[in-house]
Amino acid sequence: MVKTSAPRHKGLPILGSLLELYSDPQNFFQQLHKDYGDVVRFNMVNFDSIAIFDPKLIGEVLVSKHHDYSKNRIFWDNVKEVFGNGLLTNEGESWKTQRKLASPSFRPKSVATYIDSMISLSDLEVSSWINGSRIDIHDKMMGLTANIIAKIIFNTTTGDKGQTLLEALKELEHLILSRIKRPHPFIHKLPLPSNKRYQNLIDVIESEVMGFIDESKESDSEYPTLLSNLMRAKYEDGSSMSNKQLRDEIMTIFLAGHDTTAITLSSTFYLLSQHNEVERKMLREIDYVLNGEALTADKLDKLTYTKKVIKESMRLMPVVWAIGREAERDTQLGPYKIHKGTTVYICQYLMQRLDKYFESPKKFDPERWTDEFTANLPKYVYSPFGGGPRVCIGEHLSMLEAIIILVTVYRKFKLVYEEKAPPEYFAGAVLTPKRGMPMAVFRR
Ligand code: HEM
Repeated sequence: MVKTSAPRHKGLPILGSLLELYSDPQNFFQQLHKDYGDVVRFNMVNFDSIAIFDPKLIGEVLVSKHHDYSKNRIFWDNVKEVFGNGLLTNEGESWKTQRKLASPSFRPKSVATYIDSMISLSDLEVSSWINGSRIDIHDKMMGLTANIIAKIIFNTTTGDKGQTLLEALKELEHLILSRIKRPHPFIHKLPLPSNKRYQNLIDVIESEVMGFIDESKESDSEYPTLLSNLMRAKYEDGSSMSNKQLRDEIMTIFLAGHDTTAITLSSTFYLLSQHNEVERKMLREIDYVLNGEALTADKLDKLTYTKKVIKESMRLMPVVWAIGREAERDTQLGPYKIHKGTTVYICQYLMQRLDKYFESPKKFDPERWTDEFTANLPKYVYSPFGGGPRVCIGEHLSMLEAIIILVTVYRKFKLVYEEKAPPEYFAGAVLTPKRGMPMAVFRR
């Protein structure tokens, strides 16, 4: 018999499931799946919501019926002053045009031109580490990936005039996290010091970004930056991106493009410190491939086990742990009716830990990623970069960057997690370690 309505999880009167979702989001989705199966409706205050744990339905939302959905406004409206109309939050024809213009800069051939910078900035970072010292590896990775993305976008780093921009962005990232935790957007409008600081930081960043844009317009440098690529790109009518659109794209790429990779690396360092056999095998591969020589672009493809380590780390700890969409019109999802305005939740964190698809799902086991296993895994069970037309534009870049950093660190150091309790994460837009990732570093 075809079911036309999904089971409904009853929350509190008025608030619905708001408190459950906000207090422990991952547990909330886990419990929903356990209690109701692959599809369940619930309420968030007066917003109708549905969580789906069936890869076929996920494929409908992200791919075959993606026209029926937009990004989840309830969430993104919290930070619209930052991202503006950039790729992450843009919609419809405008998004399509912008994506077409930005895509060439993220193709493997373009990304390859950034490899040398990524290697030298990673070397520079690791060369300052002291044997036996304790560092917050999360903080170090946030700094390094910010430096790398600043180099790629502007050809600058914290070492020179990007300092003001990078410091403001760092502070803004903290404020974004606390805004997302607020129970209602009306709080954003109150004359609170944190709201004033938020606006002040956006003004600082905007003015710095505009400075770079002006400089780039006047520069005759041949160095291909992402900014210069976007400035050179032309719409079909021959015109170029406005300064406002450039600002939105740059802010988006900067913010979407560095903490994600940094957190992925922090989680990978932690997982490796807990799994000595995996770490040993990866070190053997790194030593064998490098053979005492410098890391170069041609060696990256040979690091197949190291790639699996990152892939498996992203399975257990997907930094973008859930994706939301909003139905733009009444539509059909599998056999279920979806009303306009319904929020659809896709939880990669849970999907990637289901024992239906992964044997011993909680085990950190890079070996599981054989070609056969990958080919047989239904699409959208494993999707740390999302899927369909709005799949992460930086997927190739971030995988390359993660491998380069991992290899640069482990060819010189081993990292030990000395805390008694495992790291705790805050599940906002991304899974962020609550208290950083303190680790001791020892020369190999
Ligand atoms: C480990 C690293 C990364 C992960 C796990 C990740 C994950 C994701 C995911 C899941 C989405 C889709 C969100 C949705 O459908 O709602 C996304 C979109 C996006 N990502 Fe990433 N990302 C990473 C790195 C990067 C990097 C390095 C950049 C840029 C330099 C970047 C830029 C973007 C942009 C611009 C979008 C929006 C694309 C669009 O809608 O057209 N990401 N990312």
